[in-house]
Amino acid sequence: MKLPRRDLLRYGFLSAANAGLASVIGCGKKASAPAPKQAPTREITGQWSLRAVAAEHRLLTGFAVDPKLLQDPHYAAVVREQASLIVPENAMKWGALRPAPGQYSFEQADILLTFAEQNRIRLRGHTLCWHRSLPSWVEAIDSAQEAHRQLTEHIQTVAGRYAGRMHSWDVVNEAVEVKDNRPDGLRNSFWLRLVGPDYIEAAFHAARAADPAALLSYNDYGLESETYDAEQKRSAVLLLLRRLKARRVPLDAVGIQCHISARPMYSYGPGLQRFTEQVREMGLQIFLSEMDVNDRNADRTPERQDAEVAQTYNRFLAMALAERAVTAVLFWGVDDGHSWLRYENGRDDQTRPLLFDRDLRPKEAFYAARAAMEARSMPPKP
Ligand code: XIL
Repeated sequence: MKLPRRDLLRYGFLSAANAGLASVIGCGKKASAPAPKQAPTREITGQWSLRAVAAEHRLLTGFAVDPKLLQDPHYAAVVREQASLIVPENAMKWGALRPAPGQYSFEQADILLTFAEQNRIRLRGHTLCWHRSLPSWVEAIDSAQEAHRQLTEHIQTVAGRYAGRMHSWDVVNEAVEVKDNRPDGLRNSFWLRLVGPDYIEAAFHAARAADPAALLSYNDYGLESETYDAEQKRSAVLLLLRRLKARRVPLDAVGIQCHISARPMYSYGPGLQRFTEQVREMGLQIFLSEMDVNDRNADRTPERQDAEVAQTYNRFLAMALAERAVTAVLFWGVDDGHSWLRYENGRDDQTRPLLFDRDLRPKEAFYAARAAMEARSMPPKP
């Protein structure tokens, strides 16, 4: 599928850094370049769906999904039509799975797996080890041995239950926090305090043993922008990844959350590109794992708000997808009405950070993200 030139131009895609891609998308000066098919570009199903366009450019794509919302046939239809990969927004966290010691409640997680398998969608697990979403009975644990036992048993049970059926698991989430001032860059989290820094490797080994087929990822945020803080965080994460690789910890991928912002706060570019290149050189895949565009600081006039969000999606994805190690793009929610950003940092019901509006209509952001995927240039398959 080829999107018309006007779509690519609209999102600034043919400008600056990516001018060289003109011939790839079939609208360059080369006489041999195929003419773009004039598509009904507002069409979003079938070959015009996100999953179809992504597949042509060697990507899986989809959303963080709430199993309860799948009861809405309209929501379910959008996920079915657009996604080739989904992830539970909350349903596979400890807070959802572990009501009490020794107890597991898998109903909501199972709903997602069934939905995914019925619709040829891959499922990514999130997350086996995190400092947040811990039930109070876990936070009350006070011995290293018991914390280690609970962590590995949890991973054996949860990853074991879905073994062979998962695309990937976020084994450890957000384990780096530069501001905690440790030489190893690790967050002074519940698991670190109780078990010590080796909790990370213990988690990965347990996950591999429980599900040898799933890709195992380390996932983190704050890695994206050109700020000093992000550069520090990238260094600390690279240090962790190198340490894990040197110790032969089973690790296949890095999730870069991509909770990014529309102007004017941040820019994105070389820092992230250098990071993803180094991650690729370690032999790891990259997932853009939780993308949304925070529009808190955007122009909130009706005509500008969606345009700024769309342009941020397009520019960021055009830059990030140039890295061939990126194999998946997930958006953190389907529609603006259910974005976590409505409740993050105070209530904000006017935020429009996702690809679909509250009525599940595709927004400019949808077309902008799709155009960036469509314009992705990849080396030929070996
Ligand atoms: C968020 C969910 O979206 C919210 O519904 C929940 O209340 C808190 O967690 N990084 C992550 C995700 O890895 O798990 C978080 O999800 C968002 C930030």
